[in-house]
Amino acid sequence: MHMQHCNLLCLPENYQMKYYLYHGLSWPQLSYVAEDDMGQIVGYVLAKMEEESEEDPHGHITSLAVRRSHRRLGLAQKLMDQTARAMVECFNAKYVSLHVRKSNRAALNLYTNTLKFTISEIEPKYYADGEDAFAMKRDLCSFALQNDVTPADPNSFFDNKKNEDK
Ligand SMILES: CC(C)(COP(=O)(O)OP(=O)(O)OC[C@H]1O[C@@H](n2cnc3c(N)ncnc32)[C@H](O)[C@@H]1OP(=O)(O)O)[C@@H](O)C(=O)NCCC(=O)NCCS
Repeated sequence: MHMQHCNLLCLPENYQMKYYLYHGLSWPQLSYVAEDDMGQIVGYVLAKMEEESEEDPHGHITSLAVRRSHRRLGLAQKLMDQTARAMVECFNAKYVSLHVRKSNRAALNLYTNTLKFTISEIEPKYYADGEDAFAMKRDLCSFALQNDVTPADPNSFFDNKKNEDK
């Protein structure tokens, strides 16, 4: 409920409670909150594994937000790195994807400069108000190597990486 409240304060994309429960019950490892000293939730990442995909296993960020009072403290970066680690450790995810508004300068900076996401495509009129989205991806093989993360199944996880290096 507190995660949903934080979402309502920060973003125009809102979800019914059952959608939060679906994430929490299906992938309890992947969503995180940031709390202040009083235990109030001031940020969250809501994440899942992509189902119905024939590609490599990969995660998806459904929503990320940090309350205005707690921005530029590195919380979003920390939340995103925690979910990335869990995606690799628990589900062998090779990459993580998300959508972001073309006009969302703060989030684009975070994804591109800090977290090393790249734009995979532009999705015209993705949002309800007609704004386009950038679809973005973060390679989790590089992330795992740089951060000493042990994947759920190291053999299949590093397969492509080894082939690329040959
Ligand atoms: C985008 C958002 C989640 C960033 O949260 P945050 O906790 O402030 O981000 P961090 O402190 O981890 O920032 C890490 C880096 O991202 C970039 N960044 C974050 N906010 C920025 C801003 N307002 N302007 C420019 N760059 C920004 C910076 O490079 C920053 O590093 P620095 O502070 O050392 O310069 C937050 O602004 C937010 O909740 N916005 C509203 C909801 C939203 O847009 N969610 C994303 C939807 S896709």
